[in-house]
Amino acid sequence: MTKGPMMRVLMVAPPGAGKGTQGAVIATHFGIPHIATGDLLRDHVARRTPLGQAVQAHLDQGELVPDEIVLDMVREALADAAATGGGYVLDGVPRTMAQARATYQIGLELGMTADVALHLKADDRELERRLLARAALEGRSDDTEETIRRRLRVYHELTHPIVAWYGDRGIFVTVDAMRPADQVGREILAALEVMRSFVHRSPDQPRRAVDLSGLGAAFGELPAPTP
Ligand code: AP5
Repeated sequence: MTKGPMMRVLMVAPPGAGKGTQGAVIATHFGIPHIATGDLLRDHVARRTPLGQAVQAHLDQGELVPDEIVLDMVREALADAAATGGGYVLDGVPRTMAQARATYQIGLELGMTADVALHLKADDRELERRLLARAALEGRSDDTEETIRRRLRVYHELTHPIVAWYGDRGIFVTVDAMRPADQVGREILAALEVMRSFVHRSPDQPRRAVDLSGLGAAFGELPAPTP
C-alpha cells in the first residue's frame, strides 16, 4: 500500500476486460475498498436473499439489474467507504447514463465524487475468449457463449456511450487491456499515481482526459517485428 491522498476510482469496461482483476490490484495498492456490484449481487443470489431471488434471472441472462437496486447498493457501500477513509474503487458501476449521473449525485451528497474514471479497452474476440476460458474453470452462470454475446451487446449499447461523458468531465483514463494482466496492472497504477498527485494538487483546475492505450511499448510491450 502506498501512502498519500486517498483515491476514488470507478471503472468503465466491458465484461472480461479485467475490472475484477485490476480492481483488486488498485484496492491493494491504495489501501481502499474494492466495491464490485457483480460480486455483491452474486453473493445475494448464493445466499438466496429476497434481493438475490429478484435479480437472479437478470444475471443469468446477462441483462442489467434495475437501477434502483444497484444504486441502493452503491450508496450503502460508499457510505461504508466514507467511514474507512473515503477512498474506493468501484467495479461495475456505472453501466448506463442514468447510473453515471446518479453515482455522481451520491458522490456529491457524501462528499466523495470519483477522481478518475478508468476505461479498460479490449476487443470483443479477446473478451469472449477470456470468459469462455473462465467458464471451464469457474462455471459462472452468465459465462455461456450466448450470454457472453448478450453482455457484450449490452455493454456496447448502454455502457460504452458514457465514456464520452467522463471524457468531457476530464477525469477519464484509458488503458490498453489486451496485454498480460500484470502489464495492464503496472500501467494502471502508474497512471493512477500520476492522476493522484494531479487531482489533489489542483482540485479546481479543469482536468484533461488521458489516453494511454497507445503506450504499450513504454510499459514493456515488445515492438512489432519489422517485415
Ligand atoms: P459483473 O460481475 O460486473 O460482470 P461483467 O461486467 O460481465 O464482468 P466480468 O466479471 O465477467 O469481467 P471483468 O471485467 O471483471 O474481468 P475479470 O477481471 O473478471 O456483472 C455481472 C452482472 O451483474 C451483469 O451482467 C448484470 O446483470 C449485473 N450488474 C452488475 N453491475 C450492474 C450495474 N451497475 N447495473 C445493472 N446490473 C449490474 O477477468 C475475466 C477473466 O479474464 C478472468 O478469468 C481473468 O483471470 C482473465 N483476465 C483478466 N485480465 C486478463 C488479461 N489482461 N489477459 C488475459 N486474461 C485476463
